Amino acid sequence: MPHIHTHHLLKTHHNTHNLSVFIIFILFIAFFTFFTILINPININNPNKSIPTTIPDHIIHKLRLSVTFLPLKDLRFSHIPLQGHTWFMSSLYDTHQQGQVQFQKFPSQSSQNRLLCLMGRDTHDGSWNSYALAWPDALPYNSTFMPGLTFVSYNHYSYENLWHGLSALVPFVAWHRMNNCSRRPARWVLYHWGELRLGLGPWVRSLMEATFDGPVNVEGLGGAGDGPVCFEEAVVMRHNEGGMWREKRMEVYDLMRCKARIYCGVGSEGRDGSIGMTLFLRRGARSFKNQSVVEEIFRRECGKVEGCRFMVAHSNNLTFCDQVKVMSKTDILISPHGAQLTNLFLMDRNSSVMEFFPKGWLKLAGVGQYVYHWIASWSGMNHHGAWRDPNGDHCPYNEDDRRCMSIYKSGRIGHNRTYFAEWARNVLALVNSTKMVQTSFKSTSSSPICNCAS
Ligand SMILES: *[C@@H]1O[C@H](CO)[C@@H](O)[C@H](O)[C@H]1NC(C)=O
Ligand SMILES: *[C@@H]1O[C@H](CO)[C@@H](O)[C@H](O)[C@H]1NC(C)=O
Ligand SMILES: *[C@@H]1O[C@H](CO)[C@@H](O)[C@H](O)[C@H]1NC(C)=O
Ligand SMILES: *[C@@H]1O[C@H](CO)[C@@H](O)[C@H](O)[C@H]1NC(C)=O
Ligand SMILES: *[C@@H]1O[C@H](CO)[C@@H](O)[C@H](O)[C@H]1NC(C)=O
Ligand SMILES: *[C@@H]1O[C@H](CO)[C@@H](O)[C@H](O)[C@H]1NC(C)=O
Ligand SMILES: *[C@@H]1O[C@H](CO)[C@@H](O)[C@H](O)[C@H]1NC(C)=O
Repeated sequence: MPHIHTHHLLKTHHNTHNLSVFIIFILFIAFFTFFTILINPININNPNKSIPTTIPDHIIHKLRLSVTFLPLKDLRFSHIPLQGHTWFMSSLYDTHQQGQVQFQKFPSQSSQNRLLCLMGRDTHDGSWNSYALAWPDALPYNSTFMPGLTFVSYNHYSYENLWHGLSALVPFVAWHRMNNCSRRPARWVLYHWGELRLGLGPWVRSLMEATFDGPVNVEGLGGAGDGPVCFEEAVVMRHNEGGMWREKRMEVYDLMRCKARIYCGVGSEGRDGSIGMTLFLRRGARSFKNQSVVEEIFRRECGKVEGCRFMVAHSNNLTFCDQVKVMSKTDILISPHGAQLTNLFLMDRNSSVMEFFPKGWLKLAGVGQYVYHWIASWSGMNHHGAWRDPNGDHCPYNEDDRRCMSIYKSGRIGHNRTYFAEWARNVLALVNSTKMVQTSFKSTSSSPICNCAS
């Protein structure tokens, strides 16, 4: 049985909400007792007593007035904004079935069938935005009811960046898959630190359009005046992929890859067992200092292997579908560390990644530098490690000094002819030796029907 956490109305810490929360609790007990009396089996034992089928207006009135809004961003947890229940909707807990995505669903058993209501239009300070739960027949006064399914997302970073945008929205794809791809959202409500966001990067938007078979409607909550908005059905995500098993994540990436290829009209034709090697370039920060030399090194090694096709692609001027097309023809992706690498899950499963870092990142960049190792693992790819440039811009402080990161962050990447050539040969030999396996593997994974069975 899935383990369902119910949300806790009473918490033990000291805060100014304690009194109001306590009063709500008392009201709740009072109404609950009242309803219990109304529907008590005693009535069934006395068939002469009629059971009232409607709740009296004055009770409805009190219920509507008692809907209590709490800040979307709970500053008490600002030192641990991503842990446990997080600082977003902090009084509520997630539903977590083993190995699956963590989410909240309203109405549900754990919300006592109450709907999620938001007063959340502020785009600058999440502590000014608030949320509440309300019974459908006792929504707060002056609220707007929004029918259909609403996705409410919490993102600690950005909806424009490929990696961060994808991380925030992948859980909805996981939930979609859990529901056999039968539930499509009428709208998306996006929050960053509790602040409403209206923008969604074009790449992330296209991927979601592809996955959910339709346009992505980002809700500004503006059409509803100043009052609260209550959602007929809402699914809230605030934990990215946390808690999901690798196998479950792989199925989710399989689904997005499959949907993206259909959306972009990419077939499996042209996959004749050849090896696609793609140098995927970026501009500016973390670009190669000498692209033509890097290109020449890899082109030469590719040329030595029968059936190897070498391509150069510039991430800066490719549309979403261009990127999907490039990835569908790539078995070995050669690219500097950067958001463009998020595309790697769009290659066939078990494809290869070679990553490059400028000087200084290993010591100073923190765990975030491993995100493309992670997504490679989550989506079933082989990450063949990274080359780290030993040379780079001079930092006036000690090289381990955190202040150096501001210099290294946007550094550019040099090359080592010997190392690159040897590395390319090793990866090519490995891919070449598994080519037959890979080819049969591919033909099954590129079927035009995406697997949605949970
Ligand atoms: C509902 O809105 C009306 C008009 O804006 C206002 O006069 C009234 O006080 C509001 N009621 C509540 C309970 O907020
Ligand atoms: C999804 O499909 C499977 C198998 O067809 C079924 O057992 C399951 O109940 C379905 N789940 C939902 C949420 O529809
Ligand atoms: C790149 O390297 C080649 C060969 O070492 C050299 O001829 C060329 O000038 C370099 N280009 C740049 C922009 O440094
Ligand atoms: C894409 O951008 C690169 C530079 O980053 C440029 O060399 C190339 O010509 C551009 N391609 C197109 C089709 O605009
Ligand atoms: C380049 O790589 C090779 C092989 O790993 C290594 O032996 C050599 O020291 C490197 N050269 C430089 C200049 O770092
Ligand atoms: C690639 O694999 C084939 C056998 O499938 C083998 O004959 C060939 O030598 C391999 N090439 C390289 C460069 O490893
Ligand atoms: C995946 O790739 C690895 C190494 O490149 C290889 O050992 C393995 O057999 C491949 N698996 C499939 C299913 O192709």
